[in-house]
Amino acid sequence: MSRVLLVLLVVVSLGAFAACRQEEQKAAPPNVNAELAQRGKELFGKYACNTCHSTTGQAGIGPALNGIYGKQVKLDDGSTVTRDDAYLRESILNPDAKIVAGYPKGSMANFIQPYLPELQKEENLSALVEYIKSLQ
Ligand code: HEC
Repeated sequence: MSRVLLVLLVVVSLGAFAACRQEEQKAAPPNVNAELAQRGKELFGKYACNTCHSTTGQAGIGPALNGIYGKQVKLDDGSTVTRDDAYLRESILNPDAKIVAGYPKGSMANFIQPYLPELQKEENLSALVEYIKSLQ
């Protein structure tokens, strides 16, 4: 094969790779209700979720919550779970049901105890879940 052909081949396959990656990124953000997410953002501050969770990637007392929706996470019992709506809802209402590997059990549960009646209201829970979904 001539050098020119070889170089052409490399360039074309790199281009195809880049295009694929772009597709992947475009597909990543789930459909988000911006209004609901905005309300969730306010509640995230009101219930002090932000004292333990960053939304920009740094781990705190709890894991960062950006870019987690739809992704898999390893739990402390060695199993793996996909962070879908049901998982997020359970993680908020019953934090000790599934423990993310490397993080402590009990701290979130204790802290949010006083807020539980509020968190159990569907309008609040769905807003918080929508906010987490919106964090890419
Ligand atoms: C006192 C610290 C603390 C507070 C406050 C707190 N969390 Fe957590 N959270 C944690 C810890 C630690 C974990 C990881 C252990 C576990 O899985 O329960 C966690 C896990 C989570 C997860 C699962 C994360 C993942 O990577 O899968 C979600 C979602 C979550 N918290 C949402 C919230 C929301 C919403 C609030 C506010 C209502 C909140 N947390 C308040 C400490 C906290």
